[in-house]
Amino acid sequence: MDLTELPFCTACSLHETRQRVVVGSGPTMPRLMVVGEAPGRSEDEGGEPFIGRSGQLLVRLIFEELGLQRADYFVTNAVKCRPPQNRTPRLSEAATCRAWLVAQIDSLRPTRILTVGNVAAKAVFGFSDGISRAHGRLGLHQDIPGVATYHPAAALRAGPNVVDVMRADLRVLRALGV
Ligand code: URA
Ligand code: SF4
Repeated sequence: MDLTELPFCTACSLHETRQRVVVGSGPTMPRLMVVGEAPGRSEDEGGEPFIGRSGQLLVRLIFEELGLQRADYFVTNAVKCRPPQNRTPRLSEAATCRAWLVAQIDSLRPTRILTVGNVAAKAVFGFSDGISRAHGRLGLHQDIPGVATYHPAAALRAGPNVVDVMRADLRVLRALGV
């Protein structure tokens, strides 16, 4: 796939309601690639992944547990266009958009991958278990190892317990050597 065409993609019906395709940003050959679920309102308006409240929490946890700044890693989502009302992406939408995600991983060649939430854990590592079972587990995308954790929006809803679990998952990633 030609990644220069991603900003113009109309392969699923999410293109009808989005303001823009949120491609992702960061260095090539990054030490870490972070994959979220889908853009929310802030991201659909701003054009960058994880710039809203969830993103701020995630960026802080990654800094505190891994010592990486936002500019040190690549950030994207499993689904590149905002679902209406921030609903969970449909399986068909995630399956269609996955081709872009796989092309991005192939082209960026990250050393490690962190997925946040169910949709990304499935798209990247193929985990069929929900995130309450799959978090903290080592995954592989082709030959690239990584870890799945909760979505920071879950931590904002559920509070400090989920934040603590996310910190522990990030330490699994640190032990892998990020
Ligand atoms: N939630 C996500 O999964 N991704 C974003 O970019 C923002 C919020
Ligand atoms: Fe294309 Fe993905 Fe956007 Fe659907 S969500 S239109 S597949 S970029």
